[in-house]
Amino acid sequence: MKEQTPMGMNRTGMQMSPLDANAMQAAPASMTPATPGDDSALAQMRGSYISESDPIGSVPLPGTVKGAMTTGVALLTGDQPQLLLDKLGERLAFERTGTRLYDALITKFETMQDTSTSMTLADLRKIRQDEARHFAIVAEAIQSLGGDPTSQTPCADLVGVESMGLMQVVTDPRTTVAQSLHAILVAEMTDNVGWELLIALAEDQNQSALITDFSVALDEERMHLQQVQSWFQEATLGESISNGAMVDDIADANPSQLH
Ligand SMILES: [Fe+2]
Ligand SMILES: [Fe+2]
Repeated sequence: MKEQTPMGMNRTGMQMSPLDANAMQAAPASMTPATPGDDSALAQMRGSYISESDPIGSVPLPGTVKGAMTTGVALLTGDQPQLLLDKLGERLAFERTGTRLYDALITKFETMQDTSTSMTLADLRKIRQDEARHFAIVAEAIQSLGGDPTSQTPCADLVGVESMGLMQVVTDPRTTVAQSLHAILVAEMTDNVGWELLIALAEDQNQSALITDFSVALDEERMHLQQVQSWFQEATLGESISNGAMVDDIADANPSQLH
């Protein structure tokens, strides 16, 4: 079982073949085979898709009468109730992913019996519970606005795509605790910014009833970020010291593709 990233037979760099590397660098530019064309055709094609495409989905209209009335009033005053519902949908999706990320990290941490950090199982279970509770807070907020927490909003769809890589890293059986913590760190940084924005939006839309719960969640996210950042540093520096390698070398030592 891997606890650290090993030094090994990584063949991805040109240093692996000094003769060929020298020959390639010595070759005059005129002899270097060039692929005809440039990336302008690619940009042009992307441009035509962009100008012709529809947006990614829509925010569903609140289904309840109370919700419909609330939305109607907010729309009349020039507010954008769909923006708040879209961002609530985003947070709902991301908190769900956060819960699953911690489930995966807990399994990795327990299986590897990792002692490279001050992180404990109790710490991880506590954060996992926080994420699940944040999910519930958002679901309740959506319902209080007459929205449907089971609907997928456009921004919820986007964060689902964005966070796929994070889940892949933490659930990949080959990744270390340090590598998994880096993916968790990305999630926690996004969590922090997400709640800050949601609080600003709720204030903007005069939804002060939501702000108390959201502020508690933001405080917890700030704590998560601090903890994860320090565990990530401990785990990474621990790897570095036990390998006799520089921290910068860790990412290069095992570049096999994650999939
Ligand atoms: Fe959270
Ligand atoms: Fe968090």
